Amino acid sequence: MERLEVLDSRSRWKLQRAILSSFLIDYFSSTQERIHVLEAGCGTAWNLDLGTLDFVLTGLDVSEEALELRQHQQNDLDEIVVGDLQTIELSDAQYDMIYCSYVLEHVSGAEEVLNKLFRWLKPNRLLVLLIPDRDTVLGFITRCTPFWSHVFFYKYIRRLPNAGKPGQVPFQTYYDKVVSRRGIHDYCRSRGHKILLEYGHAFNSSRTFGVFAPLLDILLKLIELISFRRLSSDHSGLVYVIEKSPQ
Ligand SMILES: C[S@@+](CC[C@H](N)C(=O)[O-])C[C@H]1O[C@@H](n2cnc3c(N)ncnc32)[C@H](O)[C@@H]1O
Repeated sequence: MERLEVLDSRSRWKLQRAILSSFLIDYFSSTQERIHVLEAGCGTAWNLDLGTLDFVLTGLDVSEEALELRQHQQNDLDEIVVGDLQTIELSDAQYDMIYCSYVLEHVSGAEEVLNKLFRWLKPNRLLVLLIPDRDTVLGFITRCTPFWSHVFFYKYIRRLPNAGKPGQVPFQTYYDKVVSRRGIHDYCRSRGHKILLEYGHAFNSSRTFGVFAPLLDILLKLIELISFRRLSSDHSGLVYVIEKSPQ
């Protein structure tokens, strides 16, 4: 695999938005019809700016609380679907773009869910996928620690008082094998889907740990070395734009 381009963690959201938005606006600029977008596992907020593109946004989430908050705070969904990605069935080939951000790590059977997302997409249309990479030091730590410690982290270190309540972060994690850089490459290669855009982003340790951030960075590097570099500490998350195969 080629070397992964990693965004600077401090300006990650700004860069991510700018890169993704301009890519997608450019990609769909010649489309005459209205664009149908599904946000799979939409949660409480949408982090993408599609500029002046003419689109209809459907939000799907298993959590009614998250959808209620979403409509109350953002009111940006044209259609709402309450459903579990593991069991729900939607019509094939109906969306031009599916946006799925930080959801796949929370489902058991992520590959089956990916198969569904691609079924729901029209041929040659786009899946925008954001995932944490399980094969990183942070992914490894998340996989090896109990859920209550994730709630503790969000509540007391990230200082989110509602952490763990219905519809609020954190969510149970499963981290199936496909939720990794290698997993996504293998998946796309075997099905003829094309990765159009890929980059990584690092965990912003200084935002969370302030003056202790350098200590954490050293610890992450150390774990990377102990793992013989099988676990990377250079990035924690991955961003993809994947074009569905023509059939
Ligand atoms: C970490 S949040 C991400 C929310 C949003 N996509 C974002 O990037 O801010 C994960 C979301 O996925 C939803 N989710 C988790 N498992 C799901 C499933 N099996 N089917 C549908 N939604 C699910 C959760 O309810 C939650 O809203």
